[in-house]
Amino acid sequence: MNAVGRTRLNQTAEWTALVKHREQLGEVRLRELFDADPARGTAYTLQVGDLHVDYSKHLVTDETLALLRDLAAATDVFGLRDAMFRGEKINTTEGRAVLHTALRAPADAVIEVDGENVVPKVHAVLDKMAAFAERVRTGEWTGHTGRRIKNVVNVGIGGSDLGPAMAHEALRAYTDRDLTVRFVSNVDGADLHEAVRDLDAAETLFIIASKTFTTIETITNATSARDWLLTELRADQSAVAKHFVALSTNAEKVADFGIDTANMFEFWDWVGGRYSFDSAIGLSLMIAIGSDAFGEMLGGFRLVDEHFRTAPAEANVPLLLGLLGVWYGNFHDAQAHAVLPYSHYLSKFTAYLQQLDMESNGKSVDRDGRAVEWQTGPVVWGTPGTNGQHAYYQLIHQGTKLIPADFIGFAEPVTDLRPGLVAQHDLLMANFFAQTQALAFGKTPEEVRAEGVPEELVPHKTFRGNHPTTTVLARALTPSVLGQLIALYEHKVFVQGAIWNIDSFDQWGVELGKVLAKRVEPALTEGADVPGLDPSTKALVAKYRELRGR
Ligand code: F6P
Repeated sequence: MNAVGRTRLNQTAEWTALVKHREQLGEVRLRELFDADPARGTAYTLQVGDLHVDYSKHLVTDETLALLRDLAAATDVFGLRDAMFRGEKINTTEGRAVLHTALRAPADAVIEVDGENVVPKVHAVLDKMAAFAERVRTGEWTGHTGRRIKNVVNVGIGGSDLGPAMAHEALRAYTDRDLTVRFVSNVDGADLHEAVRDLDAAETLFIIASKTFTTIETITNATSARDWLLTELRADQSAVAKHFVALSTNAEKVADFGIDTANMFEFWDWVGGRYSFDSAIGLSLMIAIGSDAFGEMLGGFRLVDEHFRTAPAEANVPLLLGLLGVWYGNFHDAQAHAVLPYSHYLSKFTAYLQQLDMESNGKSVDRDGRAVEWQTGPVVWGTPGTNGQHAYYQLIHQGTKLIPADFIGFAEPVTDLRPGLVAQHDLLMANFFAQTQALAFGKTPEEVRAEGVPEELVPHKTFRGNHPTTTVLARALTPSVLGQLIALYEHKVFVQGAIWNIDSFDQWGVELGKVLAKRVEPALTEGADVPGLDPSTKALVAKYRELRGR
């Protein structure tokens, strides 16, 4: 059913039942739900791998959840899931399979694309990555002048940057601290400048990460990095081989750039950019944490894949999280979704999820090419707690918008911190638990008055509550747990795309800006009269040239 010609989502009986249910429920009060069922705090929880998932603080009843599962059944979410795992070409607008799950499949699995089992290829690349990572980590791989590599700079953007950059930060405690690993993505020259200004070129390895190897930002930065290296080393082109490797699906373009394809780590067109981080795109991370820890991370992904593939609907965590998002986005008009990790190491996690979710589900036509008549992907945002508490939580607590939020926290700090710093972990987590409590249960005017607050301040100090949150709690942020978390969100995004009947695996929406940038550039540099430039942009370009003294 999840295909061309299926019944429009908002015309299904299951959708209508949810609309009706929402009307009947009216304003749900979490205090009342907990009063009616004191066991809710333990009953509304699920476990997947190391992740304890508490969804008790959501504006749902058993009936809501059953109706949402009915919607998932009516839209055949599990049918599409099985088609994805089988390697069918469910990315219909690009005619591609969607097989990031094959990147972490065990070596003896058989997953076919166009009649070929892709699993041996996946493991051959993982083995090649492991051997290379080991050579860099042990100093066996040296630069052009024979010096050991101490710096690794990943040059890539979007899915070729956000995943490894996020994971390197998340797993910093597991990294070889003698290696400096940096990430350059922005075509703003400041990014590359700051990344290399204090590095010794003789000790620096550039990893050029680009699925297509045509992305203008990456190729421009890679070219500038090559110029920098050759100038610093006063070397000719032959130095490139020891200082540049490529991660790509496009061997021809890699060779054109001057990188020996023996130093290319391959992946395939059935891996979407934003789903590629556990492919060769993870090489910088593997060098930093070693292949064993990388393998543990893949194990974490695999565990959640298996759960998503086999757990019944009532116990299926990615399904549940996807459905809760549908409940708020489609039946409460929520526009946004906050992801708030209480781990400093997860400082880039939400930025990573922004691409995963917003590039996947930021669509407004369905698989038939018809305009959708329902909301699709939310605005995903957030930064680690406790910092956000002193910035934007005010709006979540007392603003006018409904912002469902995920709180992700850990029982133990990861690093060997000094004892005083270990103690700070309890304070961090006290905030974590306090926030979800405050968001859910708020503070009534009566409670405020009972504190002796003057009447005119009572409305200001009242907290409405009923702000829904999911709590995800694990013992520690290990490589496996990171893999579990990412897979959880990958599959949540999948579930939502399946329900909305959109293609979550294309990204045509980024193309127009790329084309126009190419067209505008000569207007900036040469003052060329670009046909079709609108009057506003024309005036801005003129102002820009004036400010640049051109
Ligand atoms: O922004 C569009 C996009 O295609 C992303 O989907 C992708 O992750 C990014 O550009 C980088 O692409 P590439 O890896 O081909 O350089």
